[in-house]
Amino acid sequence: MIEFPRDFLWGTATSAYQVEGSPLADGAGPSIWQRFSHTPKLVRDGATGDVACDHYRRYRDDVALMKSLGTNAYRFSVSWSRVLPEGRGKVNAAGLDFYERLVDALLESGIEPMVTLYHWDLPAALDDRGGWLNPEVANWFADYAAVMFRKLDGRVKTWTTLNEPWVITDGGYLHGALAPGHRSRFEAPIASHNLLRSHGEAVKVYRAEGRHRVGIVINIEPKYPASDDPQDRAATQRADAYMNRQYLDPIFLGRYPDEMAEVFGEAWPQWPAEDLALIRQRIDFLGVNYYTRSVTRYDRDPWLLHAAPVLQPRATYTETGWEVFPQALTDTLVWVKQRYGNPPTYVTENGAAFFDPPALDGDRLADPLRVDYLRKHITAVHAARVQGVDVRGYFVWSLLDNFEWSHGYSKRFGIVHVDFETQKRTLKDSARFYAGVIASRGGSLTTPA
Ligand code: BGC
Repeated sequence: MIEFPRDFLWGTATSAYQVEGSPLADGAGPSIWQRFSHTPKLVRDGATGDVACDHYRRYRDDVALMKSLGTNAYRFSVSWSRVLPEGRGKVNAAGLDFYERLVDALLESGIEPMVTLYHWDLPAALDDRGGWLNPEVANWFADYAAVMFRKLDGRVKTWTTLNEPWVITDGGYLHGALAPGHRSRFEAPIASHNLLRSHGEAVKVYRAEGRHRVGIVINIEPKYPASDDPQDRAATQRADAYMNRQYLDPIFLGRYPDEMAEVFGEAWPQWPAEDLALIRQRIDFLGVNYYTRSVTRYDRDPWLLHAAPVLQPRATYTETGWEVFPQALTDTLVWVKQRYGNPPTYVTENGAAFFDPPALDGDRLADPLRVDYLRKHITAVHAARVQGVDVRGYFVWSLLDNFEWSHGYSKRFGIVHVDFETQKRTLKDSARFYAGVIASRGGSLTTPA
């Protein structure tokens, strides 16, 4: 029998550049994603976030949609350059107003806002000053955070500083598939470190200005060794350190994993102890984004990790090539509990891109693989709760099909289908399924489809 508590948060998640559209409206400044997507050949099919889901103008309808599903929380991000077009200095009141109206609309519908300050769209003006490579960025971020806290804390009770620092660094500074598109082994550790320092500064500001909860969102992809071979095990440890513990250890334990020096070699600096003290601020909760796991083996390839993923031929893979493996969500949450002292935790993203049938059958859109994915993963969250993990909420990625970064609009993660020609929203079966889970507080997870 599955029963989640009454105060459990059931939400959906999105991010500013992926859904809002109108990125330069009402005095907003460009972000690095505006630049990146307008540079030929960097994003599939030349897609941009210029219109996206037009959420900037249709947010009221989207809030009504959330309400119709019975969700009681919504996780979204603020576009820094809407609020501060130059990234610092003068506030753009119209940009700030948009988020105020959105928050008020949510509250009127009984939906609790969870606000992410940074979901990858750095103001372009700050990138011109070095972006995440410039140590000053921590002060710019803290000042921006203060603007948001002063305006909305109280109405917003749950804040997160950064979304997925690993992806920002790995995609933006090491492999270049995401904005700002750099490829440097020397830049990557610096970007990560400045992201973590920025997080620390923002938490400090929150302690001075805010009255509720602040945390961070980390994507965790647990690594399982492909065999007992010591080389495979060591490769697995390196991959885990690089992707997961590189962020969690400094935040909770005040130190980087030992493996980091091994991973980056001469590109790994000695970091000042005072920086690590800054990064290790008390946080009120941890947001965990979970999509998949990786089975890892040793690889001779000289590329940093000397590790390679091993495909699982009998498994289901999503359209982004991620293995569906719900047990790892339970394992991850239990691991967080054991390693980091059971912080209050939210699953801040979980979901899957699957091929959706292009034709709608009346107003029905069947997405059985996504339904199955959600069923198994929400059940896995429950299993973690049974093992004593303090998980307080779950957010599906995503409410809407949206701009999936360098994949453009080719990967659909929504539980609500978006026709990008007409902006028509249509519930997929997974949305109805999720509504049923919420209404029954998980009871319906065990009833056959
Ligand atoms: C990100 C989202 C993204 C999703 C699916 C997460 O890494 O936070 O912005 O759309 O994964 O790729």
